Amino acid sequence: MMSKTENISITASREGLDDDNLTGTPPDIPKLMPGGNYIKIGRDSAKSTYLLFAPPEEEVGILAKSLNTFKKHGVNLLHIESRPSTKMPDLYEFMVECAPSGNLGGAIEDIRGNSQYLQIISRDYKDNKDTVPWFPRRIRDLDRFANQILSYGAELDSDHPGFTDPVYRERRKYFADLAYNYKHGQKLPHVDYTKEETETWGKVFRQLKTLYSTHACKEHNHVFPLLEENCGYREDNIPQLEDVSNFLKDCTGFTLRPVAGLLSSRDFLAGLAFRVFHSTQYIRHPSKPYYTPEPDVCHELLGHAPLFADPEFAQFSQEIGLASLGAPDDYIEKLATCFWFTVEFGLCQEGGKLKAFGAGLLSSYGELQYALAGKSEYRPFEPVKTAVQKYPITEYQPVYYIAESFEDAKEKMIKYAATIPRPFGVRYNAYTQSIEVLDSKPQIQRLVSNIGSEMSILIDSLKKL
Ligand SMILES: [Fe+2]
Repeated sequence: MMSKTENISITASREGLDDDNLTGTPPDIPKLMPGGNYIKIGRDSAKSTYLLFAPPEEEVGILAKSLNTFKKHGVNLLHIESRPSTKMPDLYEFMVECAPSGNLGGAIEDIRGNSQYLQIISRDYKDNKDTVPWFPRRIRDLDRFANQILSYGAELDSDHPGFTDPVYRERRKYFADLAYNYKHGQKLPHVDYTKEETETWGKVFRQLKTLYSTHACKEHNHVFPLLEENCGYREDNIPQLEDVSNFLKDCTGFTLRPVAGLLSSRDFLAGLAFRVFHSTQYIRHPSKPYYTPEPDVCHELLGHAPLFADPEFAQFSQEIGLASLGAPDDYIEKLATCFWFTVEFGLCQEGGKLKAFGAGLLSSYGELQYALAGKSEYRPFEPVKTAVQKYPITEYQPVYYIAESFEDAKEKMIKYAATIPRPFGVRYNAYTQSIEVLDSKPQIQRLVSNIGSEMSILIDSLKKL
């Protein structure tokens, strides 16, 4: 038996993996689909099931005994980990990733009957009772999203301005590959943008900048000059994600991560729980510099990035992310809608005037003016109601929601998150960059004692003021 502090991490053989997508395809290369589309849709990890369980007590060979259960039922294991249990400090906890094979149900029942607790986490959970939808527990788990993209960035719809442009399509494939192969901890890919790409950026940059002082919220206007000074925000330069990400990290701990295509709402929101924002790196087609049917580097860097440098806004965004972890599908949609009406299209009041903080507005010259022109319907941001509001994605919004402040929006979001049916609480541990699932007394006690020591720092500092 290993010592209490010993962790093991074994990546088991992937033999016997039941996955058509993998046949004959090396693991890290997206597959060229019939018809020429270059696409990679969910593979093995989409179908695997994770089990977290603690055998009843420390005993010699307990891991081997548990593993035998899976063998008996013909279940292939892709990954095994063990560590001291956070829920019951005297026990060990095992986490196994099971491939969709054998009699998984039988194995689960055996493990359940012989464990202090068992939690089932699955991408494919649907209506299974006692199962929590899969979510990343550690920041490096975000690497798995590269395999879960809904469409690959090189794929363009027939009405996309670059659809018939082979040079542009090749370039999009280049950007998609960069992001697809990115792994947590690596330097963000440096891109040498072409003259044409830089000119497109320049047009958008120049035009939007004329509106920011009158239309953008004060937080955006506060950070923008710093991005110009520190991150190369200039008309003749497209900033590098790496520089912007480092800047944000210094301000709020937010980082950027390149993304190869469209992520599901569940995955996209989960990134926010780690203060990670999935960002595109390509730019819109040069034929239509003031239009893009999808997010591009102008939208991300001019619209989103400045706000992630604001501590209150960063915390608000993270709350949406934390609320999404393990939430049922209908709540994911509600949270994505709250995200839409705040982070993408949110307005706020400043000295009796409406200002924009949503990235969809701050990166659109037309809609930024339209949203503040008083022609639309304005409602106060109220998660319960905002979450069920329908919205168009290809035209200006008929309804905008107004946040009193980021602080207020955050408080409301925390209250709303408490109504999401989930059998546990979650907390982000910034030291380990991991999500703590809070569902046992010892964990809560530890948290209370941590808060206790932070309170004494607070009281001590107050005394010195
Ligand atoms: Fe966006």
